[in-house]
Amino acid sequence: TGLITLDLGYKNTGATLSEITYLDGDKGELFYRGYPIEQIAEKSNFTEVMYLLLHGDLPTADQFNTFNGNIKKYNFVAEEMKKIIDAFPRSAHPMGVLSSLTSALTAFNPKAVNVNSKEEMDLAAELLIAKFAHLAAWTYRKTLGLPLNHGDNSLNYVENFYKMSFRQPNADFEINPVVVEALDKLLILHADHEQNCSTSTVRMVGSAHTGLFASVSAGISALWGPLHGGANQAVIEMLELIEKDGGDVNKWVAKAKDKNDSFRLMGFGHRVYKNFDPRAKIIKKAADDLLVALGIEDKALEIAMQLEKVALEDEYFIERKLYPNVDFYSGIIYRALGIPTEMFTVMFALGRLPGWIAQWKEMRLKGDPIGRPRQVYQGSQQRDYIDIANR
Ligand code: CMC
Repeated sequence: TGLITLDLGYKNTGATLSEITYLDGDKGELFYRGYPIEQIAEKSNFTEVMYLLLHGDLPTADQFNTFNGNIKKYNFVAEEMKKIIDAFPRSAHPMGVLSSLTSALTAFNPKAVNVNSKEEMDLAAELLIAKFAHLAAWTYRKTLGLPLNHGDNSLNYVENFYKMSFRQPNADFEINPVVVEALDKLLILHADHEQNCSTSTVRMVGSAHTGLFASVSAGISALWGPLHGGANQAVIEMLELIEKDGGDVNKWVAKAKDKNDSFRLMGFGHRVYKNFDPRAKIIKKAADDLLVALGIEDKALEIAMQLEKVALEDEYFIERKLYPNVDFYSGIIYRALGIPTEMFTVMFALGRLPGWIAQWKEMRLKGDPIGRPRQVYQGSQQRDYIDIANR
C-alpha cells in the first residue's frame, strides 16, 4: 500500500481532473468553462449559465430554446410530494426539508440514468433543475406556513422561482425586475466553485455509482454547515447578535482575533481565496445598488459595513488574508429582499445545483474510481477483549 500522505481537509490534494471551473486563489480570479466570472455575471443569465456548466459551451439560440423549453416541460412536481412536505413540522430547518425532498424525488424517478446516453443524462439534469425550483420555493412556503404555488411557464427560470416563492394567495403578482436581476446574479455567482465541500460530497457519493438525485441530496446536507453555505445565515445571525449587544463592532472584531475565544467573524476568510473573492466584489456592488434601489435602511446592514471596514484595515485579517467572502454580501442581499434568514442557504443550493450536476456528470463520464481516502491510524495497539463483568 506504500506510504500514506496525510492532508487534513485536503488542503493540497487534487481529487480529480476537471474542465468545468478554474479559480486562482492568489489572484482572486474565477472562470466558468474559461469565461471570466465578471463577464458572465454582467452579460449572461442563470439559465444560460446552467447550460454552459452542463454542456461545456455557451448555447446557440436554438440550443438555449430547447434547454429552456425542456425545463419548462418538467415544471411540475408529483402531488404526492406535497404530502411529504405537509408531514414536516413548520419549525423544520429548510435545508433539512430540501435535502429530504430531493432524496424523495428519486422515488418518483426511480430509473437509474445511463450516463453514456446523452439523452438520458440531459433528461435527468433538466428534470432535476425544473423540479428543484419547486422544491426550493415550496420549502420556503412551508417555513412561512403558506399554501404552495404551481409554476408559471410564461416566466423564465428565476422569475418562475420568485413567483412560486413570493406570490400571496388570491393576489395579483408583479415581478420586481430589480429583485429578479439581483437574484439572477446571485444564482450565477453561486453556480459552481470547483471542488468545494458540497461538490466533493456530490462527487464522492456519486463515485459509488449512486444516482444523481441522491448524490445531490448529500451535497445539500454538506452545504448546510455554517463553515460552508450555512455561513450566509450565520452572517445575519452574527449581525443581529452584535446589534442586540449594543453594536460595538470593535468588541466583536477583538473576540474574533482572540485565540481563546472560538468566535469567528462569519463571512470572512476562504480556504482558497487569499485575495478578495471575485464573486464578493460583484455581489458587494449588487448589494450596494439594491439597498439604494429599494431604499432600505437597516441597522444590521450598517453594522455589516462597519465590520467590513474594520476587518479590512485590521492587521490580524490582513496578515491572514481574510477578506469578506461571497456569503458575507449574499446574506445582506437576501435580507434586503425580505427572504427569511433560514432560507438563505436554500438560495445558495438553488444556485449551486447546475455545478453539482455538471460535476457529477463529469465524474461519471471520465470514469473516476470510487472515492476512498486512506488514514493514518492513531488508536490503541492490539489488546485482548475483557468480559464486561471484569472491566
Ligand atoms: N475570523 C477570525 N479568524 C479567522 C477566520 C474568521 N472568519 N477565518 C480564519 N481565521 C484565522 C484562523 O483562526 C487561523 O488563524 P491562525 O493561523 O492564527 O491559527 C487562520 O485564520 C487560518 O484559518 P483556517 O481555519 O486554518 O483556514 P481554513 O482554510 O481551514 O478555513 C474557512 C476557511 C472559510 C472555513 C474559515 O475562514 C472560516 O471559518 N470562516 C468563517 C465561516 C465562513 O465565512 N465560511 C464561508 C466560506 S466561503 C463560501 C463557502 O464555502 O460557502
